[in-house]
Amino acid sequence: MLTITNIHKTFNKGTINEKKALNGVDLHLDEGDFVTIIGGNGAGKSTTLNAVAGVFPVDSGKIEIDGVDVTNLPEYKRAAYLGRVFQDPMMGTAANMGIEENLALALRRGERRTLRWGITGPERENYRHLLEQLGLGLEDRLTSKVGLLSGGQRQALTLLMATVKKPKLLLLDEHTAALDPKTAAKVLELTDKIIARDHLTALMVTHNMRHAIEYGNRLIMMHDGKVVVDIRGEEKKHLQVRDLLEKFNIDNDRMLLSE
Ligand SMILES: Nc1ncnc2c1ncn2[C@@H]1O[C@H](COP(=O)(O)OP(=O)(O)O)[C@@H](O)[C@H]1O
Ligand SMILES: [Mg+2]
Repeated sequence: MLTITNIHKTFNKGTINEKKALNGVDLHLDEGDFVTIIGGNGAGKSTTLNAVAGVFPVDSGKIEIDGVDVTNLPEYKRAAYLGRVFQDPMMGTAANMGIEENLALALRRGERRTLRWGITGPERENYRHLLEQLGLGLEDRLTSKVGLLSGGQRQALTLLMATVKKPKLLLLDEHTAALDPKTAAKVLELTDKIIARDHLTALMVTHNMRHAIEYGNRLIMMHDGKVVVDIRGEEKKHLQVRDLLEKFNIDNDRMLLSE
């Protein structure tokens, strides 16, 4: 579903601020893979996800999504394949618009009809059903402005909007890091539920080793712009934080990972 072959990315090349962010990333995801990504600050996790999304062109290497070479496709064309949720609850939804208007935009993405003809009764009914899955009572607040929601409610809504069209690939970049632990756990549960139900292929960056171990069928670790660890199958199922720390000789503080 996703094949990344030897991608390199250096920011601000030739200047005093030159930074080699990706140094030969190779990664292949089969359909239905749910891969968690850990690694220290600056390891290249976000840059990898941004490279896949086409936020900037890579310097070299190749990116394929579902067999299509997207390496030279602009971001807006790749968006058709992708769902994305970022760390910041303020991104991903339009604060000044209602919950139902946000959902309408997500569902009508890629169609010529945007909001011009308003929202119909059957559509509203569909939104209610979709929102009920979140278990947050948002189905009774269809016209509430998204800006009035809590961070957790907003991330849950963003997640719903990112997955409602069943993207080929779901990119999650520390999407629960800004939430309190209880809300983060709830949004993670929801993430897991949606990925399993819709058989989505997903990449989830987290700085929380427990979350990286608990979720997904595969765990990778990045360091210095490369994938340095790739654990899957039975080994992943039995993995413990202690194993990660010992096996790969990781200094927890240096890696800035939390247990
Ligand atoms: N747009 C950018 N311009 C310049 N440097 C960047 C940019 N994005 C990321 N970097 C640098 O690239 C490196 C990798 O960053 P990033 O992928 O965000 O790390 P991570 O998400 O693993 O913490 C870091 O040193 C970061 O400062
Ligand atoms: Mg990051």
